[in-house]
Amino acid sequence: MKKCLPTFIIILLLISGLSLKTHAQNLKRIVDDAAKQTNLMLDQIDQSKTAWNNDAQNRNKPILVSSRTLSPEGELLLVPSKDWTSGFFPGVLWFLYELTGEKKWEDQARVFTANIEGEKLNGKTHDMGFKIYCSFGTGYNLTKDPKYKDVIIQAAKTLATRFNPVVGCIRSWDHNTDKWDFPVIIDNMMNLELLFAATKLTGDSSFYKIAVSHANTTMKNHFRPDFSSYHVIDYDTLTGKVLHRNTHQGFSDESAWARGQAWALYGYTMCYRETRDPKYLQQAENIASFILNRPNMPKDMVPYWDFNAGNIPEEPRDASAGAIIASAFLDLSTFSNNGSLYRNRADQIIESLTKNYRSPIGENKGFILIHSTGSKPMNSEVDVPLTYADYYYLEALSRSKRNKK
Ligand code: GLY
Repeated sequence: MKKCLPTFIIILLLISGLSLKTHAQNLKRIVDDAAKQTNLMLDQIDQSKTAWNNDAQNRNKPILVSSRTLSPEGELLLVPSKDWTSGFFPGVLWFLYELTGEKKWEDQARVFTANIEGEKLNGKTHDMGFKIYCSFGTGYNLTKDPKYKDVIIQAAKTLATRFNPVVGCIRSWDHNTDKWDFPVIIDNMMNLELLFAATKLTGDSSFYKIAVSHANTTMKNHFRPDFSSYHVIDYDTLTGKVLHRNTHQGFSDESAWARGQAWALYGYTMCYRETRDPKYLQQAENIASFILNRPNMPKDMVPYWDFNAGNIPEEPRDASAGAIIASAFLDLSTFSNNGSLYRNRADQIIESLTKNYRSPIGENKGFILIHSTGSKPMNSEVDVPLTYADYYYLEALSRSKRNKK
């Protein structure tokens, strides 16, 4: 056996070398396709913007900056910078820069990122992390551009104005004031990465403390005993007590809206990465276990839009939830004792998305993925491409490449 050992090790090394090479080749093909689609998207955005700007009726309306989805008629829908999705297309461009190393993607990313800088002062929304961290934050991580650092810090200061110390959370929405006093949605966990970044960049721990308070309060009130998450928790601002537990985009108040579970998984994994507090790792693993053990999780691991939707298997899927879960699993795999489980599940989701949820090249105005669901109860954005599905898919590919190094 002793004699065989060196041969065995050589064979193992050869196999792992080959599998790394195959992974790199596959990834290159996928990234080449994503680049083709994104080139098409850039042309389409240009055309749509020109048409919009030339239409006199639009003179007093906000200018459109980024792509969000397709209309039921298949038209490209663009959004102004204040929309919660405006940072994702700049992020797609940054990931293409990371994945290809080609300067043209950096140039485009800089243009689209600059278009939404004004959002750093928009205190009317909690979506600051989605907008500013996915664009300026992703760009900063790649370039260390000091101008981006300043934008991240200002955005965090603005976001911090929405923190209520009695509740211990950042307020999510300002709408539906007849229904909710102080609504906090599980999606809001995604904005905390911006706050952690601001503390690292400034040394000012106040952002970090707000993020930790929000994560702890959310951990206490947003989760059921099985670690599924409610969508909306409404708080009393005088006492900090929970007033209501509701949904807005899910099937019912007591259901597990798929993207909400994905935000929760991603959010607590990121909180562990930023704080190393073991309770966040435990929370992320508990949420992962809830997701992985759903009886109606499809074989391809791309969830229906809600794990409790009434008409499964005749319900639409949400590829965006699949992409977010894949990206979160890759992050979680680097910290957890169950790393290989999460890595395998992420690979499985990425493979499914790549095989069966990608747009044919040249179609869908340049979106990369199809079959996502924005808000089924409002019959809005059902079974369509969504810019954030593309963003988290490319982030998952980037993480997969980084993890293999
Ligand atoms: N944050 C909004 C959504 O996930 O649809």
